[in-house]
Amino acid sequence: MSIGNTVSLPREAAPECSAAAPEAVPVHVAVIMDGNGRWAAARGLPRVAGHRAGAQAVRRTIESAIRHGVQWLTLYAFSSENWRRPAAEVLDLTGLLRHYLRSEIAELTAEGVRLRFIGELERFPTDIQTELARAEVATAGNTRLNLVIALSYGARGEIVAAARRVAEAVRDGRLDLAALTEEGFGALLETAGFPDPDLIVRTSGEQRLSNFLLWQAAYAEFVFLDTLWPDFGEAEFAAALAAFARRERRFGARPG
Ligand code: IPE
Ligand code: IPE
Ligand code: MG
Repeated sequence: MSIGNTVSLPREAAPECSAAAPEAVPVHVAVIMDGNGRWAAARGLPRVAGHRAGAQAVRRTIESAIRHGVQWLTLYAFSSENWRRPAAEVLDLTGLLRHYLRSEIAELTAEGVRLRFIGELERFPTDIQTELARAEVATAGNTRLNLVIALSYGARGEIVAAARRVAEAVRDGRLDLAALTEEGFGALLETAGFPDPDLIVRTSGEQRLSNFLLWQAAYAEFVFLDTLWPDFGEAEFAAALAAFARRERRFGARPG
């Protein structure tokens, strides 16, 4: 069943590969992975069980992205605002992150995945910061899929940090303010050099950005799914790509 603007899934599981023409496959898919807590609550389990199941969905999503030829996958794993959650849940999440990093790096490397992290990484314990840096270095030569994980990420903070760098460069005489362009400003964001997301998917029926990629999402297409993140898999990924393939992107120009 679909609620309002959400995309409903086909009854049958989607075929192995999407039928979309290659040009209709988004270059960059970004996912707001939401609904772990509700998934656990529905089963009478603690929230951490939902986060654990969510980590399995991350693995499936990476495999789907590779299968469909998506080149960039950005996953919103933890927001700047998620630090406001109870300390025990934050501890569970950082513990899972630590475990995930240690157990997945070898597999990601073997699959040709290049891993990068955006967000206020300095807010994590130093051992995790070390693992994050190690994962980026270990996978730096991979080209099959660019996987970006947003951790303690908040778009407003990212934009303010970029504005601060502009101000400092002008103050120090390194930048002529009149010469600042959208491209130049974009290059000061954490996503410098990354293509903008073509498709943003959010699970769990919520229809909001929650401070995710506000600048980069300027012309993204949105797909909202009722599916809770731990239940997300190939069928959901394929359904989101199929919805994207049906969209007509205009970028402000006249309709064709
Ligand atoms: C997404 O699931 C994971 C994080 C935000 C870390 P939630 O934990 O937000 O799950 P719900 O939204 O409460 O169901
Ligand atoms: C957004 O989910 C952040 C992530 C998925 C990491 P939240 O569950 O934190 O968002 P809100 O609070 O419902 O907007
Ligand atoms: Mg949530």
